[in-house]
Amino acid sequence: MTSDEPAGGATLFEDIGLLFTADPEHEEIADAALIVEDGVVAWIGPSSGPGVPAADRRIGVEGRAVIPGFVDSHAHLVFAGDRTAEFAARMEGLPYSAGGIRTTVAATREAADAALAANAGALVAEMLAQGTTTVEIKSGYGLTVEDERRSLEIAGRFTAETTYLGAHVVPPGVGADDYVSLVTGPMLEACAPYARWVDVFCERGAFDGDQSREILAAGIGAGLGARIHAGQLGEGPGVRIACELGAASADHCTHLTDADVAALADSGVVATLLPGAEFSTRSPYPDARRLLGAGVSVALATDCNPGSSFTSSMPFCVALAVREMRMSPKEAVRAATAGGARALRRTDVGVLRVGARADLVILSAPSYVHLAYRPGVPLVDQVWKDGARVV
Ligand code: NIG
Ligand code: FE
Repeated sequence: MTSDEPAGGATLFEDIGLLFTADPEHEEIADAALIVEDGVVAWIGPSSGPGVPAADRRIGVEGRAVIPGFVDSHAHLVFAGDRTAEFAARMEGLPYSAGGIRTTVAATREAADAALAANAGALVAEMLAQGTTTVEIKSGYGLTVEDERRSLEIAGRFTAETTYLGAHVVPPGVGADDYVSLVTGPMLEACAPYARWVDVFCERGAFDGDQSREILAAGIGAGLGARIHAGQLGEGPGVRIACELGAASADHCTHLTDADVAALADSGVVATLLPGAEFSTRSPYPDARRLLGAGVSVALATDCNPGSSFTSSMPFCVALAVREMRMSPKEAVRAATAGGARALRRTDVGVLRVGARADLVILSAPSYVHLAYRPGVPLVDQVWKDGARVV
């Protein structure tokens, strides 16, 4: 039977050469089979032998590898405009500056909802084709009450993981104190119904420690979970604030003090590393070993945005993490699946275990290691989401 027949009943994926489940109980299984029913994983076991339950259809994986769908827990997809020239200038030696965000803000405010949705939808489709089955999407290029609200409404058309980032930068023509009052007041009120998370860009040139704490606390007060951009361009108070407030994740974590690393390890805040940003801003990569060695939970995400990391590819981030951040291939794929799920406090995705969502990727390779070993090669062959083939 072919894989694109209508769903319904049980589907057996047989002859999986290497199944990476991201479930610590049995993380890798050679010669595996997996049954999907009603959109979730119903059974996992050996591919050969008498114990394989009956199924309504069979998908022959032919010795290739299967992994959970990637969970991209950090992306900025609601925007308009183009920053090609800024990137080209940077590659000729200009430094990255958060000021470039304002270019995208101007274009985003000008754009119609339909154009913003079409751009976000195209990026989500690009992500899906590269194996990402769960994505978080932030606002942050509107920076007025209505532009932030509509950014989140559009984000919500594509994911339940929507993040209010009204505190991306202070927009031109507004005083910092007035803007923090807006972000914690009327803007939050308008945005909270459309958001699951609140985020703040805690960095010199964006929001300082006191402002960041106030903004996250207001979001938490409105029922949102907290996450933060911390330590992208330099050391700062962001990680400490994330740990104090019980944020789900601190993202970037490129510049960390030893105290930051210890606090992350103690708090259970996930450190989300975004190597696409280092690649695209030609900056030094963080050392993932320092975090993993201290017992910190690590996630990998794309940070897909038009300024600092215009990649939608989790396989590219996995390859960068292995080559540049000293992660093993297994650690990198774990961080890109279960790690991302943890950063979003999700237990139903990023893992293949009985009861989890049947979001999975068949690679045209015998092992997940090939994601790093064969960088830049399109190894995602099939993508299944909620038990249905989508790519
Ligand atoms: O995560 N750090 C802040 N926000 C984005 C950059 C956005 C931009 O340059 O447009 C980031 O890298
Ligand atoms: Fe970001």
